[in-house]
Amino acid sequence: MNVSEAVDSRRSVRAFLDQPVDLGILREVLERAARAPSGGNLQPWRLYVLSGDALSRLKDAIQLRLNTHPTPDLPLDYEVYPSPLGEPYRSERYAVGEAMYAELGIAREDKTARLQQFANNYRFFGAPVALFCYVDRGMGPPQWSDLGMYLQTVMLLLRERGLDSCAQECWSVYHREIAAQLSPPREWMLFCGMAIGHADPDAPVNRLRARRLPLDQFVQWRS
Ligand SMILES: Cc1cc2nc3c(=O)[nH]c(=O)nc-3n(C[C@H](O)[C@H](O)[C@H](O)COP(=O)(O)O)c2cc1C
Repeated sequence: MNVSEAVDSRRSVRAFLDQPVDLGILREVLERAARAPSGGNLQPWRLYVLSGDALSRLKDAIQLRLNTHPTPDLPLDYEVYPSPLGEPYRSERYAVGEAMYAELGIAREDKTARLQQFANNYRFFGAPVALFCYVDRGMGPPQWSDLGMYLQTVMLLLRERGLDSCAQECWSVYHREIAAQLSPPREWMLFCGMAIGHADPDAPVNRLRARRLPLDQFVQWRS
């Protein structure tokens, strides 16, 4: 697989097979991904990888939480989106949600089914491995962008190994619940989770191919 194939075939997978992931392969991927660039070579990414019992315990704790007091852990460490979210960003966010529910055949007014689908996030969509990415609280926007470079490199290398992923900001809402499981240093804050595994090829949700803005809407050429 070349880089273009990895880029083209990576997409957010939201249904995984019950098929284990070789942690040795994952170790290689996470190590190689650290070749990602970072300003000043700070390498600000800090990770937890969960599988087996550790993953089951975390999922159980979150299910209990969702069933008993699902409100977010306030104060949130960061807002996932700016509020209000202006155009064209708002429309893109809306469009990808609608496209996903269309693949699933869930109508706009079927709030229950939509919520149920969203709740699959908190089971890592059935993935056998989960990753949480933390960053030191003192780090600013440049270092947050470094996290993105690292995580995208992870997701591309996973493709090379026949594996799929979904980055998940939704976990930030329960940052305290997750900290209770992982006991990260106080000075770290949770950026996102990531589901990792083998995509279920038959799951309708995995048919989604999220659209992109046309090139001329985000590139201006000057010469
Ligand atoms: C940092 C980050 C966090 C994300 N969080 C979530 C999430 O919580 N749940 C989810 O279903 N998708 C999540 N996504 C996936 C995006 O919705 C997805 O990348 C976008 O719609 C483009 O689709 P694609 O990844 O299939 O190309 C996240 C993506 C990124 C980069």
